[in-house]
Amino acid sequence: MSETSDSFARCVEQSERAAWRLDDVMPAGTRLDFTSPFLPESLAKTASLEMLDARERKILNQITANAYLNAFSFVEEYIIATMMDHARAELFGDKDALRALTRVAEEEVKHQQLFERYRIAFEDGFGTTCRVLDNAAEVAGAILSKSPVAVMLVTFQLELTTQHHYVESARDDDTLDPFFVSLLKHHWIEESQHARVDALELEKQAAFAPNRALESGVDEYFEIVAELGATFARQAAMDVDSLATAIGRVLTDDERTRIEASRRLAYEDMFVRCGLTHPTFLALLGRLDESAPERAESLAKTLGGDPSCN
Ligand SMILES: [Fe+2]
Ligand SMILES: [Fe+2]
Repeated sequence: MSETSDSFARCVEQSERAAWRLDDVMPAGTRLDFTSPFLPESLAKTASLEMLDARERKILNQITANAYLNAFSFVEEYIIATMMDHARAELFGDKDALRALTRVAEEEVKHQQLFERYRIAFEDGFGTTCRVLDNAAEVAGAILSKSPVAVMLVTFQLELTTQHHYVESARDDDTLDPFFVSLLKHHWIEESQHARVDALELEKQAAFAPNRALESGVDEYFEIVAELGATFARQAAMDVDSLATAIGRVLTDDERTRIEASRRLAYEDMFVRCGLTHPTFLALLGRLDESAPERAESLAKTLGGDPSCN
């Protein structure tokens, strides 16, 4: 048995121990409690918006949290497809790798079902409509047109970020809604296993793909990151409309501009910068292309955000 196969075997074993059932985390018909904020301030970034009162900032926090879960469901669309492709490549090969990859795909479908239950509960309880990104298939197609190295790198980055979002930001914050924290926890538990599988798939690429292919894969990864930034900018604009409707008052142009900019910063920080500066991510990126970590760190500096992500 190869060293890689041993590691995939450990991933399967630990994934079986960590896995949870959808009905245990969010039984059908669960109602949400809107008393407390859902996301920690380090992620939601509403405190600097002094034109909003405390109730309005809490509403914006909840709008951002709803968009956050939708964004994961959104990227899971392409992650399921790419994991199935990687699994197919192992169909008559390494059985442990095949099991690890199909488990990731199955769990991502489960996460999408969890987030769909949550979306329905949010819509039922929030009181007004909040628009969220709805072109997942289109974005999945654009991401999947890039090389496997590029697609797996962005997947690795996104899955690593769930650790920061739960362990370092939400877990010890007792001001947050406990149900939302539980969702972050259960998502992170399985995502931390997925990130290990991504790393093994990237190690395979590092071992077997020619250097030129690795470098062009890394270039395409940076293209995907730029496209993700543009996608989240669309979500930021939707959030301003959702907020104005929810708080029932007209926002001035200046207020709208500032709130939209704060949402763009929050999403860039959560979904791009956090992963881009993660030491585990940078170490693997450097194995594929030794000049890439410096490029990632320069890009991260242009995004600003929360230095505690490092
Ligand atoms: Fe997921
Ligand atoms: Fe995942």
